[in-house]
Amino acid sequence: MAEIDKPRTLPPTGRQETGDRIQNTGALPTASPILLFLGGWVEWLLYSEGAECGAKEILLMHILITGGAGFIGSHTANALMKKGHQVRIFDCLRPPVHKDGKPFNHPEGAEMVVGDVTDKAAMTAALSGIDAVIHLAAYQDYLPDFSTFFQVNAVGTALLYEIMVEQELPIQKVVVASSQAVYGEGAYQSASGEVFFPDIRSLDVLEKGDWEIQGPDGKSGKSLVTHEGQVNPQNQYAMSKYTQEMIALNLGRRYEIPSVAMRYSIVQGPGQSLYNAYSGACRIFCLAMHFDHRPVVYEDGMSLRDYVNIEDVVAANLTVLEQDAANYQAFNLGGGKAYTVLDFVQIVAKVYGKDLEPDMPGSFRFGDTRHIVSDISKLKKLGWVPKHTPEKSVRDYKAWLEDQENVADVLAYTQERMKSLNVVREVKG
Ligand SMILES: NC(=O)c1ccc[n+]([C@@H]2O[C@H](COP(=O)([O-])OP(=O)(O)OC[C@H]3O[C@@H](n4cnc5c(N)ncnc54)[C@H](O)[C@@H]3O)[C@@H](O)[C@H]2O)c1
Repeated sequence: MAEIDKPRTLPPTGRQETGDRIQNTGALPTASPILLFLGGWVEWLLYSEGAECGAKEILLMHILITGGAGFIGSHTANALMKKGHQVRIFDCLRPPVHKDGKPFNHPEGAEMVVGDVTDKAAMTAALSGIDAVIHLAAYQDYLPDFSTFFQVNAVGTALLYEIMVEQELPIQKVVVASSQAVYGEGAYQSASGEVFFPDIRSLDVLEKGDWEIQGPDGKSGKSLVTHEGQVNPQNQYAMSKYTQEMIALNLGRRYEIPSVAMRYSIVQGPGQSLYNAYSGACRIFCLAMHFDHRPVVYEDGMSLRDYVNIEDVVAANLTVLEQDAANYQAFNLGGGKAYTVLDFVQIVAKVYGKDLEPDMPGSFRFGDTRHIVSDISKLKKLGWVPKHTPEKSVRDYKAWLEDQENVADVLAYTQERMKSLNVVREVKG
């Protein structure tokens, strides 16, 4: 982190004007830093990485993680604290991720402030004494309340930049969580070799059970691994995430606030909210196996996806936080390998040691992309590589799930919710 080169005076983390503090455990570094205390205030913190030759000095920072009580945020907080950074979590503890206003995850040692990223006073207070921001708070759902997606994901990000610019805050890096969803159906190649970017599949076509996307020549197109070059956001979530990226990268560049957008693929691992309808394949298939149900697979199970392990995601977040070379750019952050949904079901079945045939009733989720796999070569050029397999994600998730209470309630709740959202539809005829 030699590139983050502005040691600065930090106020004590306990200074807060607004925001409902529910715990401040001090978040003192757990690595082996040299602490320089001046007049009771932490002036700056420094430690070396790689003790012998080539050791680089790393400045330790106060890092704000919005959405830090969530899945990616809590793992990122733990990793940052392990390196010696101090972490302040800012999270509104939104249901259904958090039940009854209790944080689903509370990384030990992190300062926790309850507040909403759309609340200017609370955000201003939360940014006090902060050196870097990891902005993960987001509205993610299947609901058609379109404005909420933009309110939280886009306006919340604009507010973050507004405060940093207005207050002239010396923020050294902002990492924002975007999504692979910005690509919609991604890039395709037609039978005649033409590259095209299809729109979402129409309800009409899906109701006939025609799953594959046709090229301009009327023949089935071939899905390509999608690089960062061209986006095609199709739903309210994806559009709000792409807007968030533009706010971060363009305002960041204009006001010289180094900013990076991470387009996560499907992130998997322990600590992913059981109640989040958005948390996808790992939760759904593991719950099915846990309760000895046949896993329900939509369409024909041949959709391609890439799955990335949470530990690889955390490592990538830290990579872009630490490297100037990442500034003002968007990066794909995926698993680097394509799996069909049926492949993934097989992985889950193997980990559970259960031989439950997938149930394919001919239903589909309206709005799902047919295939989407990210090209991760750009991020790899910064020295990051995905190290973990979906098998590991499933193994770790299974172990974590077995430790949770009231898992039966969760299954009933999520089934009811998907039904009530009318996301799942049937093929006609
Ligand atoms: N998990 C994935 O597979 C995935 C994939 C692509 C993108 N992302 C993005 O990564 C980020 C983190 O995702 P996650 O999986 O950890 O989700 P999560 O739901 O586990 O965590 C999100 C956190 O944000 C908080 N939050 C929501 N609205 C807020 C608001 N208005 N103010 C303050 N806090 C708020 C929630 O309470 C929650 O703790 C999100 O921006 C998400 O869009 C995640």
